[in-house]
Amino acid sequence: MVRSLPENMPWRLLYCGRSRASMPFLGELAGDERVTVVAEDENGRPDLDALTVPEDAAVYCCGPQGLMAAVEECFPAARLERFAPRTDTDGNHAFELELRCSGRVLTVPAGSSVLAAVRAELPDTPYSCAQGFCGTCQQRVLEGEVEHQDELLTDTERADSMLICVSRARSGRIVLDL
Ligand code: FES
Repeated sequence: MVRSLPENMPWRLLYCGRSRASMPFLGELAGDERVTVVAEDENGRPDLDALTVPEDAAVYCCGPQGLMAAVEECFPAARLERFAPRTDTDGNHAFELELRCSGRVLTVPAGSSVLAAVRAELPDTPYSCAQGFCGTCQQRVLEGEVEHQDELLTDTERADSMLICVSRARSGRIVLDL
């Protein structure tokens, strides 16, 4: 979005995440005084009340529901654009997940994510938005049929990878290169 803004358009970005290690694009954004980075493990949660936003500003927010609700409460006069993950797939069944490099086989329960199952075993596995938007959690798929529930990957990328925060197995088992 920042890249696509016209040059004379004023903007500011409040970029929040759990830790800097989990936040993509930091290198590209570093040094831009219009960007405020808030890493929760260093700075705690963002202080939305301290922000001032012109009344005619458009506020675009992408993040967990709690943050979305807080932003909406703070900026009721501003236009809030929501981005929501797809909800038109069922995918809500348990399945087996093999992490081939680690030699582990896990169960991903119904209503839980591949990301949660993977991070329980491999806590350093990167992620950020946890909603299928940023691509940080993309992993290579070695076997199995994936129910893709993101809006980010191209068909070519979907042929051999998945965003593990939202996508699931269509059935049976999937095998990741982890
Ligand atoms: S963590 Fe952002 S797409 Fe999965």
